[in-house]
Amino acid sequence: MDKKWKTAISGIIDGEAHIHGYKVTELIDKVNFTDAIWLELKSELPSDKERAMLDAILISTIDNGLGPPSVTNARNSASAGNPMQAAVAAGVLGIGDAHGGAIEECARLLQMGLTAEKLVEKVLGSGDRIPGFGHKVYKDEDPRATQIFEKAKKLGFYGEHCELAQNVEGVLQEKKGKKIPINVDGAIAAVISDMGFDYRLGKGFFIIGRVVGLVAHIFEEWVREKPFRRIADEEIEYDGAPPRSLKKT
Ligand SMILES: CC(C)(COP(=O)(O)OP(=O)(O)OC[C@H]1O[C@@H](n2cnc3c(N)ncnc32)[C@H](O)[C@@H]1OP(=O)(O)O)[C@@H](O)C(=O)NCCC(=O)NCCS
Repeated sequence: MDKKWKTAISGIIDGEAHIHGYKVTELIDKVNFTDAIWLELKSELPSDKERAMLDAILISTIDNGLGPPSVTNARNSASAGNPMQAAVAAGVLGIGDAHGGAIEECARLLQMGLTAEKLVEKVLGSGDRIPGFGHKVYKDEDPRATQIFEKAKKLGFYGEHCELAQNVEGVLQEKKGKKIPINVDGAIAAVISDMGFDYRLGKGFFIIGRVVGLVAHIFEEWVREKPFRRIADEEIEYDGAPPRSLKKT
C-alpha cells in the first residue's frame, strides 16, 4: 500500500540515516558541509568547482553588520529574553523582498528568457523595483556582487543569466538616469540560475548562510548587552493626536 508521506531526499535504511543514498556516517567522515548542502539540494555531490561556487555564495550572505533587519530582529528578540530558536526565527522573519529575499524574484525574472530591455520594462512598467538591484549602503557597487561574478567567471559559472543581470544594470541606469548597482541578491540570483537551480530555492541560499550570522549575533547579544534593549526616547517622535478625554455618551 502507498504510504502517505514520501521523500526521495533521506530515509532510515537498515537502521541508519541515508541522504540521497549515502550513509550519513560516511558523509560525516568524508565530505564537508558545503558538499552536504549541495547534496540535499541537488541529489548528487558537487564537483570541486560547484563546491567552491556554493561556498562563495553562502559566505557572501553570512553577515553584513548589525544594521539589516534580519540581525536587528534576531538581537531584539534575544534582548527580550527569548531562547536561541525563537531569536533565530525572528531573524529569519526579518528577511523579506527588500532584504535577502530578492534572490527568488530576481532569479525568476532572469529565468523567463526576456531581454534586459524587456525585463526592465516589465518590472518598472508595473510600478515595481527590480529585485536584486540597489542597496542602502553600496550606492555605486556592491563589492560582494562583484566578487561573486569574478568567482563565477573563474569557476565557469558565468553564463547567460549573469550576462543578462549585468545588462539589466546598464538598462536600469539608462532608464533611471543614475546607477542602481546589482547587489549581492542579484548576483546570487544570476549565478544560481546559471548553475541550474530552480528560482524557488532563491531565498533558501540567503537563509542558509544568514542563520550562521544570526546565531553569532544572538549569542553576542546575550553575553555583551543588558536585556531589554529599547529605542532611546530621544530617537522617538510621537506625532499623533494630542492628549484628549473620552466623552460620556
Ligand atoms: C535595497 C533598497 C531598499 C535600497 O533602497 P534605497 O537605497 O533606500 O533607495 P531609495 O528608496 O532611496 O530609492 C532611490 C531611487 O532609486 C530607485 N531604485 C532603488 N532601487 C531600485 C530598484 N531595484 N529598481 C528600480 N529602481 C530602484 C528608487 O525607485 C528611487 O527612485 P526615485 O529617486 O526616482 O524615486 C532598494 O534598492 C530596493 O528595494 N531594491 C530591490 C530589493 C533588493 O534587491 N533588495 C536586496 C538588497 S541587498
